[in-house]
Amino acid sequence: MACPVRSNFGPQDGEQLGEEAGMLYGEYLMLDKILSSQRLLSEQDKRKVHDEHLFIITHQAYELWFKQIIFELDSVRDIFSETLEESQTLEILKRLNRIVLILKVLVDQVMILETMTPLDFMDFRNYLKPASGFQSLQFRLLENKLGVKAENRVKYNRNYTRVFGNDQEALKQIELSEVEPSLALLVERWLERTPGLEVEGFNFWGKYQKAVNLLLDEQRQIAMAEPIENVKEYRLSDLEKRREVYESIFRPEIHDALLNRGERRFSHKALQGAILITFYRDEPRFSQPHQILNLLMDVDSLITKWRYNHVLMVQRMIGSSQLGTGGSSGYQYLRSTLSDRYKVFVDLFNLSTFLIPRSYIPPLTTSMRSQLCLWKNGITEVYDGNRKDGLD
Ligand code: HEM
Repeated sequence: MACPVRSNFGPQDGEQLGEEAGMLYGEYLMLDKILSSQRLLSEQDKRKVHDEHLFIITHQAYELWFKQIIFELDSVRDIFSETLEESQTLEILKRLNRIVLILKVLVDQVMILETMTPLDFMDFRNYLKPASGFQSLQFRLLENKLGVKAENRVKYNRNYTRVFGNDQEALKQIELSEVEPSLALLVERWLERTPGLEVEGFNFWGKYQKAVNLLLDEQRQIAMAEPIENVKEYRLSDLEKRREVYESIFRPEIHDALLNRGERRFSHKALQGAILITFYRDEPRFSQPHQILNLLMDVDSLITKWRYNHVLMVQRMIGSSQLGTGGSSGYQYLRSTLSDRYKVFVDLFNLSTFLIPRSYIPPLTTSMRSQLCLWKNGITEVYDGNRKDGLD
């Protein structure tokens, strides 16, 4: 039945809500559809199981929130796709923050379903087969739109046709979500454009390498002066390992090898941009980008936490050696999805490996500082007396 739509939802002058009013709450929200969509299979079999109601409502609530997350995510991707104006970063922040808050609700929601006991679940589990969250189209779309790549998934999880074989529309949507630019890809391109990376300009990367070398050389001198031989050896070997870690970002060929193995995701340039933003996050132009990077990590963290809570719930409900209703190895399969391979912004988490003490961070030049200031007039360079000499 088509709903009568009015441009103004409130009652008109002299009009009583109810009789003449066009659209009411239930109608607007189509509650007739939503609230009549809890079909208990156990009830149809004349042995109604109380907890099946909770099971259905919980899944439906998840799917509604997945829909909202995808809605926000698509809009954030759209903003990133255009040549991003800095005035738009606030909108990105607002929407990413909303996604993060929804994910927090989703992580906690698992607890409500855990009020159901395994015996209660057993009472209706057979009715579900072969239905499974594995067939949640929206969950797959969400992962793909964020940037989970097919080659990083565990094998069982790569073949969509087995799951959505007869649903051509679902397969089409999944295919599209795999080829269109993911949030991770758009963020990577955005980071590559970070001001300050230009070799002809501020040349952050050159300065950063100099600063790291200075730091490591100074620490080597301290280690060499250590009188106790085994402490000295320990310190020197520790320093060697740290030098190797830094080499992995200074030498593009090592970075590329890590990219090929799926251990890194961002291009070399994008990684440089992320480090630059992290170091100078107090500068006005980098403050919002820095917050964006933090929210992206929150998204990854919360999805991982959801996966973990879900795995624990699954173990509690069906143990660790029963197959899932979707045909996977159940708990064992789900546990394998907790790995870093499913983290889209894993490089941001690992940035801390490459940080250096504040006093070694290359000072900004006047022109770079004015480039990073939102109000460009009347800027004077502030000399920071704590900075190490030779880093300018
Ligand atoms: C009693 C509660 C639950 C049990 C026992 C359970 C069990 C499972 C199992 C065994 C799988 C692996 C696939 C398979 O079925 O073979 C799975 C996957 C999944 N479940 Fe659940 N689940 C429960 C609740 C939920 C809820 C409330 C949601 C919310 C939407 C959900 C969403 C998913 C998703 C998205 C997957 C696919 C995960 C992936 O492939 O990475 N599950 N579930």
